[in-house]
Amino acid sequence: MGWKTIDNMDISGKKVLLRVDINVPMKAGKVTDATRIEKIIPTVKDILAAKGMPILMAHFGRPKGTASPTLSLKQLIPALETALGQPIIWADATIGAKAEAASAALREGQILLLENTRFYADEEANSAKFAASLAVLGDIFCNDAFSAAHRAHASTEGVARHLPACAGRLMQAELEALERALIDPAHPVAAIVGGAKISTKMAVLSHLISNVDQLIVGGGMANTFLAAQGYDI
Ligand code: 3PG
Repeated sequence: MGWKTIDNMDISGKKVLLRVDINVPMKAGKVTDATRIEKIIPTVKDILAAKGMPILMAHFGRPKGTASPTLSLKQLIPALETALGQPIIWADATIGAKAEAASAALREGQILLLENTRFYADEEANSAKFAASLAVLGDIFCNDAFSAAHRAHASTEGVARHLPACAGRLMQAELEALERALIDPAHPVAAIVGGAKISTKMAVLSHLISNVDQLIVGGGMANTFLAAQGYDI
């Protein structure tokens, strides 16, 4: 294990910039599946228990660098408050003076939520300047967004160059499971891979195929394979 967890960090009194994946489905302004929100609970609670102050940082949808109310993370506050059982402080900004003031005002026991990182094109471009603007908000970077970790964006990769970094509990569980399955596992090993999009998973599939005995592809991306085999889908 060449990576750090929350247990390896001195979190007490520190602002923890916590990258989460709360890209949940919504209908008529309501979250229809809160699983991803529920999955961040252990990490947030452990940071609070260690007297750290979590600053939640996330993307939501694909606004492609343009701010829009329909993709504001503000809408997730009720679902986050239900899951975490306490009020969420809204920064109403991702970076800049407003976000910095919200971070500076954060006190022990409180949780701050930043606005959608993808309201800035610099996020997906992994701009060093944008990553530095995020980094000034915290003392420690904690990445719990395993399901967004295949993208080298400013809030997932760039920011880790500026702050001491660790994996959150969800990231830790996923990495440990991957290590068990891929580093000297008992064979046979099967990988079941799903999801809507194949484009960004080709590298993962190529890597897996040489490490597992069976690779089972499901979800929407199975259609890509069926289409390649000539099926009418
Ligand atoms: C997802 O929903 O798959 C993750 O949040 C990543 O979203 P993205 O494919 O828009 O980067």
